[in-house]
Amino acid sequence: MLPLQDRRVVLGVTGGIAAYKAVEIASQFVKLGADVDVVMTAAAQQFVLPLTFQSLTKRPVVVDMFHLLAEMHIGHVSLGERAEVVLIAPATANTIAKLASGLADDMLGSTVLATRAPVVLAPAMNDLMYENQVTQENLGRLRARGFTIVEPEYGRLAEGKMGKGRLAEPRVIVDIVRGVLGRTRDWAGKRVVVTAGGTQEPIDPVRYLTNRSSGRMGYAIAEAARDRGAAVTLISGLSSLPRPGGVEFVLARSAAEMLEQVMPACDGADLLVMAAAVADFRAAEVSTQKLKKFEEEGLVLRLVRNPDILKLAAERYGPLGLPVLVGFAAESENLVANARLKLAGKKVDLVVANDITAPGSGFGTETNKVVLVHQGGEEELPLLPKYDVAMRVLDVARQILSEREQGRARR
Ligand code: PMT
Repeated sequence: MLPLQDRRVVLGVTGGIAAYKAVEIASQFVKLGADVDVVMTAAAQQFVLPLTFQSLTKRPVVVDMFHLLAEMHIGHVSLGERAEVVLIAPATANTIAKLASGLADDMLGSTVLATRAPVVLAPAMNDLMYENQVTQENLGRLRARGFTIVEPEYGRLAEGKMGKGRLAEPRVIVDIVRGVLGRTRDWAGKRVVVTAGGTQEPIDPVRYLTNRSSGRMGYAIAEAARDRGAAVTLISGLSSLPRPGGVEFVLARSAAEMLEQVMPACDGADLLVMAAAVADFRAAEVSTQKLKKFEEEGLVLRLVRNPDILKLAAERYGPLGLPVLVGFAAESENLVANARLKLAGKKVDLVVANDITAPGSGFGTETNKVVLVHQGGEEELPLLPKYDVAMRVLDVARQILSEREQGRARR
């Protein structure tokens, strides 16, 4: 199933040069499975044709409050009523001012006024207009009313100068909307910590030891948890993947840095998923100067053990019962038996036994083949996209969390 299958999104487009980026936003929503109704202000139609959106969404585009066809099909408030989320991107200073005052003199204003769905605004405008006190006050009023504001970025503006006012990246805006839609789902109100990627253990200023982890599995878990409403902290080794929007991102290059970040992040968290491939060893001494070539004698590196982050987290948080602890086990043989050893040895709630020999599975792939191993049994999953594996891991972890919460309530 697609992440936004049949979710009802209203996309409001207002009149700024960034209106063309709304086309990419609509396209991303459609690819994720959403039903997208586009509402354009009169000014927006000066920048992009309604037909562009209509072709992408396969739905009529609403351009005029008094258009008979639009009235017949949707009525001037029913769009807002049926929406599960309203996103306005780009949102101009003018539209923001109108929304802050509750004006409903066009279809977009009426839709926002009539909706009970959450509203997300992605402002885009000239930097001076954005900084202007009145714009900031209007945004503050809307924020106080529960609107989510996706901060514009610093960069080149339409006028050619640099400043803060560029529309945030379409992917980030869509990610944030995915999180907002998650508020009605089963991880809403929960806090999830996820680690991802391989750690880098320095040898000298230019060299390091690492592994082939791309970060895909951990990023997929962070995205799936966000999509199901959790507040997510993603603690990641260096990765070439784009940082997911709508999650708190923390970079941790080495195992030591990761340990430093994971422990405090677990305080008050409901779930820890260690999908990172943490290097088991690091160089005993890190040279401050670039090591010279050792042409004749070669180079002998002495390695020492890194701390086992998951084990330490289990020692500290296991007795408290929270967060629920999930580890991965990258195995090339005796998959389930080795995973069971890790389940018992590290004292965690669930081990995702990862078959790294199966084609399309393990390090660097888009898909994964895993067995979920826990006290209650085991479940072998077929080869699946990493996002789908993440969804199943979250199902089992949610079950364990619910049982733990019920146990506490009885005490
Ligand atoms: O990033 P991708 O390219 O998508 O690849 C995904 C993956 C193969 C890296 C991932 O699915 C996976 O299996 N991650 C765990 C890899 C691993 O380090 O396995 P392990 O058996 O060595 O470690 C067991 C568990 O202890 C893991 O949860 C690991 O995060 C944790 N660990 C390991 C060593 C250490 N020093 N501290 C730890 O916390």
